[in-house]
Amino acid sequence: MSTKASNRYDAIILGAGGAGMMCALTAGQRGRKVLLLDHADEPGKKILISGGGRCNFTNLHTPPERYLSANRHFAKSALRRFRPEDFIALVDRHHISWHEKCLGQLFCDGSARQIVSMLLNECAKGDVELKLGRGIRELEITDGMYHVSYGDEAAAAPSLVIATGGLSIPKMGATGFAYDIARKFGLAVIAPRPALVPLTLGHAENLFQSLSGVSTDVIARCGDVAFREAALFTHKGLSGPAVLQISSYWTPGEEIGINFLTQLGSTWLIDAKRSHPRSGLRSVLGQALPARLAEALAERIGISGELANVPDRVLETTQQQLSNWRFRPSGTEGFAKAEVTAGGISTDELSSQTMQANAVRGLYAIGEAVDVTGWLGGYNFQWAWASGWAAGQNL
Ligand code: FDA
Repeated sequence: MSTKASNRYDAIILGAGGAGMMCALTAGQRGRKVLLLDHADEPGKKILISGGGRCNFTNLHTPPERYLSANRHFAKSALRRFRPEDFIALVDRHHISWHEKCLGQLFCDGSARQIVSMLLNECAKGDVELKLGRGIRELEITDGMYHVSYGDEAAAAPSLVIATGGLSIPKMGATGFAYDIARKFGLAVIAPRPALVPLTLGHAENLFQSLSGVSTDVIARCGDVAFREAALFTHKGLSGPAVLQISSYWTPGEEIGINFLTQLGSTWLIDAKRSHPRSGLRSVLGQALPARLAEALAERIGISGELANVPDRVLETTQQQLSNWRFRPSGTEGFAKAEVTAGGISTDELSSQTMQANAVRGLYAIGEAVDVTGWLGGYNFQWAWASGWAAGQNL
């Protein structure tokens, strides 16, 4: 592959998503000559659809414990050096108004497109060359230079950044390209799996399938991890923030526990028997839960008639059951519906300071391509910004 002198860069960045653009603008504004390539016809497509079109661009609280990775310490350095307030300062400089929705989640008041425009504007300030709509045909390294051919052009640089994301939402252009490049250069990849993804239920839980569209506040638990947020019943199983969050920690075959009685004390049902002895379980549950859910749970538990006739010990067991409804999901809705991909390029292979591969000089990996996955709520973009910034500082 021959490369004309004019097609030589200091760095070639593959993937113009959030991480790739942040990396490009950081390096470009440091005077590096940067080429940013993407096979899609527009940059930042996931930013555009994120947060219901308003982009939950960061979270005020991004401690490393809110990120999953085989090495839970890896993300610390980048997250500490590029903080939510750094991104907020950038957003403010561009006069993009924003608000905190809940739990520290920051959203644009207007549109996610403002974030993409801001990043492109900052890339332009750094003279970043952005080339879209061109697939990468060939990639090789000779004499310490990465040679990339794309469309009918070719370019070379001493540094190559993998920023092509993970496998989630293939119909938006997601590919396993990052893993292919990593393996080509001998970097280990932790098996990618769908995360922040709706869970599916088998026939044993058909109770839930009849509740499609019902939403309620729950505590979802898997092992030692628990999230208190809304759960949404779907025709395939369960979704909603609490379930998406817990899905990232779930492994096939494991049980999940749902507490439907988040607002109620541990003797609530016994108390209800004392105060409303003539009521049935369904009507008592209906005061705390959506009617359809109350009906389905009462039917499944199988207590009929007045509470006055139900022994306290049965009500205690029922209360425990409703506080920890155990079930085994049959699976997830897969990469087609997963907000992110967990797993990815192993952090063992990378410097946490610079994102450069330890054993392959000039090769970097950032963003979702790497085995670092945030909670729902702006954490994944903050990782994209922070890891992109860390690499951009070193190019
Ligand atoms: P990203 O996937 O964004 O970018 C990768 C780029 O590489 C893409 O432009 C792609 O076209 C390109 N590419 C892929 N394969 C290629 C190839 N073979 N050749 C060339 N280019 C290639 N997070 C958050 O913090 N707040 C939120 O509100 C949301 N909301 C949200 C909604 C939905 C529906 C989804 C699917 C995801 C979110 N996320 C989110 C997650 C967030 O979008 C995600 O973590 C980041 O976009 C990851 O940024 P990256 O730049 O690493 O990858």
